[in-house]
Amino acid sequence: MINTKFKLKNGKELEPIHLHPGIPVDALLDYINSIIREDAYLHMDTEMTAEEERNWLISSMNDIYHDRLIHYVVFDENKIIAGATAKKGNWREAGNVQLGIAIRKECRSLGLGEKLLSFLIEKTKEKWNPRNIYLYCAEENKPALSLYKKIGFEEFAKFPEWFKYQNKYLDVIYLILSE
Ligand SMILES: CC(C)(COP(=O)(O)OP(=O)(O)OC[C@H]1O[C@@H](n2cnc3c(N)ncnc32)[C@H](O)[C@@H]1OP(=O)(O)O)[C@@H](O)C(=O)NCCC(=O)NCCS
Repeated sequence: MINTKFKLKNGKELEPIHLHPGIPVDALLDYINSIIREDAYLHMDTEMTAEEERNWLISSMNDIYHDRLIHYVVFDENKIIAGATAKKGNWREAGNVQLGIAIRKECRSLGLGEKLLSFLIEKTKEKWNPRNIYLYCAEENKPALSLYKKIGFEEFAKFPEWFKYQNKYLDVIYLILSE
């Protein structure tokens, strides 16, 4: 139990839960494929199969068990509407934690992205107290960039023409959480 509720701008109160093996693969698949189909600025550009999603769940549970991953999902009734992940680096990069977040299209602009990402940062600090908390996104992804800067991330690197999106190579911005 997490005992946290996010109050959204539409009045709904939803709670984040930890990824766990009992979450139906169909619900995970429906969520991730809805965002892939939309052609959002996600790293992934090809819909997942049920088998790939099942393997992703197994591998994520293994990472959680070995203290390398935190992953939350948010359900609205039977539908997953958000996911957020914090992944610790390996060996000499174990002090670096990379975050990621995606909200289902019809549930955006309700304050969920900001609440979920802030919550993830709080939990990441509590668990690992890492040296660096960072994330990246395509420069064109204005909603994400704006959210990250609002929360306190600052740009620290740009990888030029790194992200192929609709047959164009876009620059990728890396951002780090400032103190
Ligand atoms: C980026 C994303 C997570 C934002 O989630 P959200 O729930 O819509 O965001 P919120 O409603 O909490 O908004 C918080 C802040 O984000 C920024 N933001 C959100 N939507 C925005 C938009 N359409 N344009 C510009 N800024 C936007 C604003 O700074 C906003 O603060 P404000 O309300 O005070 O203006 C969401 O758009 C998303 O999941 N996109 C698709 C997946 C993706 O791109 N993930 C990131 C990959 S790097």
